[in-house]
Amino acid sequence: MTKKLRVGVAGLGTVGGGLLKLFADESNRLNERLEVTAVSARNRTRNRGVDISRFQWFDDPVELAANADVDVLVELIGGSDGPAKRAVETALERGAHVITANKALLAVHGSRLAAISERTEAKLLFEAAVGGGVPMVKAVKESLAGCRASAVAGILNGTCNYILTEMEQNGRSFEDVLADAQRLGYAEADPTTDVGGFDAAHKLTILSAIAFGSRPDYEHVRIEGIERVSLTDIRMAGKLGYRIKLIAKGAFDGSAVSMHVSLALLAFDHPLANVGGSLNALVADADPVGQLTFIGRGAGEGPTAASVAADLLDLAEGRGGYAFGRPLAQLAEAPRAAPAEFGRFYVRLMVQDKPGVVAAVSDRLAHESISIESFLQMPGHEGPSVPIVLTTQSCARAALEKAVEAIQRLDVVAEPPYVMPIEESGHRARTWSKG
Ligand code: HSE
Repeated sequence: MTKKLRVGVAGLGTVGGGLLKLFADESNRLNERLEVTAVSARNRTRNRGVDISRFQWFDDPVELAANADVDVLVELIGGSDGPAKRAVETALERGAHVITANKALLAVHGSRLAAISERTEAKLLFEAAVGGGVPMVKAVKESLAGCRASAVAGILNGTCNYILTEMEQNGRSFEDVLADAQRLGYAEADPTTDVGGFDAAHKLTILSAIAFGSRPDYEHVRIEGIERVSLTDIRMAGKLGYRIKLIAKGAFDGSAVSMHVSLALLAFDHPLANVGGSLNALVADADPVGQLTFIGRGAGEGPTAASVAADLLDLAEGRGGYAFGRPLAQLAEAPRAAPAEFGRFYVRLMVQDKPGVVAAVSDRLAHESISIESFLQMPGHEGPSVPIVLTTQSCARAALEKAVEAIQRLDVVAEPPYVMPIEESGHRARTWSKG
């Protein structure tokens, strides 16, 4: 019988606990090929629903990575630096394979870790880092390996999706729903990581690197979170036939990669518009396969542990390959210039309700040659200022930003306008150009 791979698990939170439960099920295939022999966590005595007393215990995950007799380190600590990074580097340096769910670490230090992995021939796998239980990394890395990808667009943060869905469906406040997401175990330790768009940006960085064959380049993701969205936006967008989602999108035009995370309006028939609650989804456009959509549970104990388990079995059965799908030397340096963005946009204004306001606003837009597609004011709004929203026809974002600056200077405008892109479903794709 082949010798079982010995596994050290660093981090016994939601996902680590879930993984130990999978191993505790003796009928699970994991047990045929692998065994957990060492663990590390902050708290040794916490009840995790599984017996950890038979594993070698380490207070310090870096010590586990350096000294435990393991073939694989599973890193489930989190954080782009600190003990997680030191433990992963230590394991790779000594030739132990690493499986990690740590998207921040991979987004920020992916190239460096891939370099160590290539040098020591220790594998670095991370299906659980993106999309929880949804096989996004493997799909893009392996199934699309023979294709030319032009875009990956996804709902990559379950917490934000849960908040937006609850706000829309039940009229609940942002803060109220966030507290729920934290209780349900979707949210990161620091909620800013989720609601600020950073977690989705980490995941997008990883997917874009694999999809487009470029080095992970987190510094060049344009990131906006969901903090400014209001129930008014959600309702007004709904009246216009759109749903608001946090979209993480990478696009490759043949020479430059652009990456952004932002709220966007999706027509109700967009493939991502009906992905609700804490679900995650990815739409990949690749030639010649066309458009593919993956949907499923993107966070939580079971789904994320299942992805770690799949990576463990890949290692045990000799699969895995390069961390980002190709040798580091073949990954292009990401472009440095932010591409110009063209598409349709939603603009919400808070204005005084008096004659001439709409005329003044449309005048500022016309000055930048921006054409209005729809205009909406809801009757019955109380207060010193009222919301009006408009959508534009396709225009350059830079021109819209100029118009918005001029609109903001109008006396009747009470607060900075809020702009969101309208995400097209393919036939009328948002475009970028260098310049
Ligand atoms: N905080 C993440 C989310 C967990 O809400 O999707 C999974 O990475």
